[in-house]
Amino acid sequence: MANVVIATSNAHKVEEYKALMADDSIELQSLLDYPGFPDVEENGTTFTENASIKAIAASKYCDAPAFADDSGLEVFALNGEPGIYSARYAPTDPERIAKLLKNLEGKEDRSARFVCVIAIAFNGEIIETFEGEIRGTIGFEPKGSNGFGYDPVFIPEGETRTFAELSSEEKNRISHRANAFRKAAEFVEEQLAALNAF
Ligand code: IMP
Repeated sequence: MANVVIATSNAHKVEEYKALMADDSIELQSLLDYPGFPDVEENGTTFTENASIKAIAASKYCDAPAFADDSGLEVFALNGEPGIYSARYAPTDPERIAKLLKNLEGKEDRSARFVCVIAIAFNGEIIETFEGEIRGTIGFEPKGSNGFGYDPVFIPEGETRTFAELSSEEKNRISHRANAFRKAAEFVEEQLAALNAF
């Protein structure tokens, strides 16, 4: 069975990937299966650079094809903040949300988007990167308890509920990660089909 590593230790993300990756012929591992994996400094200046840094490091350490994502929330009225600093915006999720709501006080434009870039690496080299997004708006107070991160204040386009009020199936159908993942999965299928043609 082919072994693929998802370069994350975030249990929520692992679950989202497992739900997305329906292929039984691939055994999905994550960094939770590699407790010795050293901390990698995400010192890139874009989502793509940070995803690539993680994918390259994981493909070398785990000696397997590695998927890594870097994702975050871009709020237009805040010039794209928190962006690549989404995880580091404040110490905890509730504090990050509180800071975001405070910074948006008095701003009319509450539009935002979640972005996810997935990088695939093998033998320490990037094979390809894929970007997915979901547009929406930032609510005025946190609502819902599903998901993680900024989910309680993000209302996707066409919805009245926040991501944290959607079921995980509903979020997985439309999320930035799902959109990037669909592109990555299509690419992997094309590559496998090309290999099988020989
Ligand atoms: P990463 O693990 O470096 O990609 O960190 C991305 C950060 O962006 C997370 O810690 C969250 O704060 C935020 N984020 C990314 N994706 C989501 C999502 O699906 N829901 C809520 N917050 C997210």
